[in-house]
Amino acid sequence: MNTMKTTDTAVSPTHMKVDALLAKMSLEEKIGQLAQISGAEFMPGPPAEETVRKMGAGSMLWLNNTQRFNELQKVAIEESPSGIPILFALDVIHGYRTIFPVPLALASSWDPNVAEQAQAIAAKEARAAGIHWTFGPMIDIARDARWGRIVEGAGEDPYLGSAMAAAQVRGFQGDDLADPEHVLACAKHFAGYGAADGGRDYDPVFLSEAQLRNVYLPPFQAAVDAGVATFMSAYMDLNNVPATSNRWLLRDVLREEWGFDGFIVSDAFGVGNLVIQGHARDGQEAALRALKAGLNMDMASSTYLGNLANLVQDGSLTVDEIDEMVRPILTLKFQMGLFENPYVDETLLDQVVARPEHRQAARLAAQRSMVLLRNEGNLLPLAKTLTNVAVIGPLADSMQATEGSWMVFGHQPAAVTVLQGVRAKLADGAVSYAPGPDINRDFPHPFGEFNLSERKPLQSPEDAEAAFHMAVATAQAADLVIMVMGENADMAGEFASRGSLNLPGRQEELLKAVHAMGKPVVLVLLNGRPLSISWAAANIPAILEAWEPGSEGGNAVADILFGDANPGGKLPVCFPRHGSHAPLYYARTLTHQPEHSPMYRSRYWDSPTTPLYPFGFGLSYTTFAIPDLQL
Ligand code: BGC
Repeated sequence: MNTMKTTDTAVSPTHMKVDALLAKMSLEEKIGQLAQISGAEFMPGPPAEETVRKMGAGSMLWLNNTQRFNELQKVAIEESPSGIPILFALDVIHGYRTIFPVPLALASSWDPNVAEQAQAIAAKEARAAGIHWTFGPMIDIARDARWGRIVEGAGEDPYLGSAMAAAQVRGFQGDDLADPEHVLACAKHFAGYGAADGGRDYDPVFLSEAQLRNVYLPPFQAAVDAGVATFMSAYMDLNNVPATSNRWLLRDVLREEWGFDGFIVSDAFGVGNLVIQGHARDGQEAALRALKAGLNMDMASSTYLGNLANLVQDGSLTVDEIDEMVRPILTLKFQMGLFENPYVDETLLDQVVARPEHRQAARLAAQRSMVLLRNEGNLLPLAKTLTNVAVIGPLADSMQATEGSWMVFGHQPAAVTVLQGVRAKLADGAVSYAPGPDINRDFPHPFGEFNLSERKPLQSPEDAEAAFHMAVATAQAADLVIMVMGENADMAGEFASRGSLNLPGRQEELLKAVHAMGKPVVLVLLNGRPLSISWAAANIPAILEAWEPGSEGGNAVADILFGDANPGGKLPVCFPRHGSHAPLYYARTLTHQPEHSPMYRSRYWDSPTTPLYPFGFGLSYTTFAIPDLQL
């Protein structure tokens, strides 16, 4: 059952308004509503403003500029033929200005309220900036830690994934689509994207209907039940049919079975990509296939813009079929009050982002997300009376790694780092710091320029060696060492799949060198996916998985390290022992030789098949006793 209606009944006033508007729109304008055009200046093609003036636009994306939103909206309203406002859309994945832990971390809280509150604040800030619609939540089940986008979802489990999906929809959208402090949500990527062959981003997906229905579809159905306004189709082929033009997914399952009545947008360039994927001869056939399959809006490829009119002219499509696609877009614009309030108050954003409760909520969410993986001899929590602590590692003072992957366009990182958080707990002068060698991707991230990368020049081997020795010497001089290691922000997310799950670069070598000194060592991990840290798991007494914890991440880490907060997070994904161990997940069907049978304990002859840390694992500073359990 939908808990929130996204479309009124056939005779509702909204329906009548939509029909009246459609009746006076030209075909060109209708096609304009089916287009999501890029507001980014680097994109080829006619400037966005020209298209808006000529035919309006359903939506615009990749623009994050409050003043420009108002300027373009004015063109749409005052100069386009029917004056239909634009829906401004942006990826607001885990915060707009106040950055929350990445979704995989939020799922580690196992508390839907944490995710709901985080996305409610993200929505409030984004809306104050002039954004109406976010491309989230990403609710792809992911069971392969090599897949970079595992960071954007809730992990491997359909039940937890469904709870987190519904919570994020509630957080983004609130109870009423007309609420000016919320944004429309978008359930993505429909469907099966997380099962990409080999964990390689965009690779084809082959899933039986049973796997889809039992594992990959439930979070999407939960999003529909929570009233999600929009869906995004996935990039890849699902069982040899691209999700962008997959009629079974978009019409049979989503609309007919589940009763979804919002609209569906493709993933970026998805309609045009049907040609590259070999499913359409040209743009015209691509547009026809996607529209017939039930895809309402073409994100950025301009394939609908360039071809739908011809398709109507040559009789391949009827105007009724176009109207069917436009209707839910206009309906949502009416329902969210966009016609009444198309502009944003340009003074609002500064007031909204300054609210101290946003930072406070980010700190709490980060505390709740962290997972204590090891605590031998109760090394943690640490005493605040320590006077000589070294904080070591390439991520210890990295704002980008602390905030994590996928920031909104133009965002300036402003996180409290772990180094700053630890310093704030101890007396002045008690903390020394050395980063050690930098870590880098072997192939740079194609979005590097959009502030995903650290943007540092590559370190020379000599400088890396010197940094290594400096880190060792700094650790040597301390009584206790906190190592902050893991992945840079550009090492997880889109275009960020990996073959290995090891600590990148020379981090493990540095960890071993510091461990060899015989001092107490705490390892804090900042990363967007499970890592295979088998050596650390056996040798480093205290390990805290802090994920990519957001703006207040360093404070939250220090709160946990020094006992001001109790770590209570549990893993939403298994930690494999190495990359070739993936995909790995707990909910496997039994074989005829179960792992617990005495004879056949291992399916690999060179390593155990059990995870390094299983789904649901997570320690605490409290001990629990649950007596007299019976099944
Ligand atoms: C991603 C989507 C994202 C879209 C718009 C695509 O490359 O797959 O998740 O929402 O870009 O930025």
